[in-house]
Amino acid sequence: MNILVTGGAGYIGSHTCISLQMAGHSVIVVDNLCNSKVDTLNKVRQITDKEITFYQMDVTDETAMEKIFSNHHIDGVIHFAGLKAVGESVLEPSKYYYNNIVSTIILAKVCLKYNVWRFVFSSSATVYGDNEAPFNENMPLLPTTNPYGETKAMSERILTDIVKANPAFSVSLLRYFNPVGAHESGLIGEAPNGIPNNLMPYVTQVAKGKIEKLKVLGNDYSTVDGTGVRDYIHVMDLAEGHVAALDNLTEGIHIYNLGTGQGTSVLELVKAFEQANDIVVPYEIGGRRPGDIASCYANTSKAKRELGWTAKRNIIDMCRDAWRFEKNYKE
Ligand code: NAD
Ligand code: UD1
Repeated sequence: MNILVTGGAGYIGSHTCISLQMAGHSVIVVDNLCNSKVDTLNKVRQITDKEITFYQMDVTDETAMEKIFSNHHIDGVIHFAGLKAVGESVLEPSKYYYNNIVSTIILAKVCLKYNVWRFVFSSSATVYGDNEAPFNENMPLLPTTNPYGETKAMSERILTDIVKANPAFSVSLLRYFNPVGAHESGLIGEAPNGIPNNLMPYVTQVAKGKIEKLKVLGNDYSTVDGTGVRDYIHVMDLAEGHVAALDNLTEGIHIYNLGTGQGTSVLELVKAFEQANDIVVPYEIGGRRPGDIASCYANTSKAKRELGWTAKRNIIDMCRDAWRFEKNYKE
């Protein structure tokens, strides 16, 4: 199939381009490069030895999107393009609502106009809010604590209503847990701007000596050791989950958790990182981060049953691959 990947130069999108090409699909990327570099796509070409068509355009620009859809026969889209910094979304809510919601509406509208029936959307486990883990797809969603999370919940509702009105539209809402790690080549990975917000890139930058020590954000949660528990998933497993979602897509709206089903605490992750890479990660205990929940991990049985997909890589693989990328990465 010819797959249009929005946000394909970004972290998850670029890894998914690799999995799509390895599975025999052709890839067209549209990205405005607001949080990525075009060189990442050169690295993807180097890894797969295949061509990628690239458009530096904004998904909120309907005329630009129409141009792409009229230039190419597109069989399906994966919509990664979005802004994702939780803290920034609290400070600049309208920027987040505009970018994330308008891009989803325009992309869906153009898909319907050009008879593109397959649509895969990047959602997040954040839509579960403070439910009791493990989270399953049938749980009623609880409010998220920030505009970023709300853009995901709203996009899910908008796409659900579009499917109701257009029953042949085939949409998969993929709720990611915590994507970490990098392609095993070490050529592409997660390279956040400035000080990382998320745990794994923070740990790799401490390991590199860019940051003095990790601050563990709370050790008084009701978890195995008091620190927050998350379901970390290797980005290549996540990428392969997208191929499975696309290949198994049928009419209607479908929701899948993409996680491992395994919870790991902050201290367990630090230990796994030290073990995988034989490197010490200095840390200190700090206070809780507002909006954080104690435990977040997936019930993964639906993706296994309906997509035949499960994550294969473990926490040691994630730590090893994240470090391999960080070690070699030059800004
Ligand atoms: P990323 O920032 O690395 O990638 C997003 C890409 O989209 C970037 O390359 C950016 O330049 C591009 N982009 C943003 N707005 C655009 C627009 N209007 N038009 C064109 N391009 C645009 O982020 P990521 O981690 O790869 O995340 C991909 C998607 O998955 C996002 O929608 C994110 O919200 C979602 N998600 C990410 C995580 C995570 O932990 N990384 C977790 C759950 C969900
Ligand atoms: C964050 C986002 C969430 C998003 C998810 C995946 C917030 C409030 N939530 O969630 O919306 O969907 O990333 O991108 O930002 N931790 C530390 N020290 C740090 C950083 C994190 O101890 O420097 C802890 C956190 O308290 C948490 C765990 O590590 O317990 C994981 O944090 P993080 O990687 O930011 O992911 P989430 O909290 O799941």
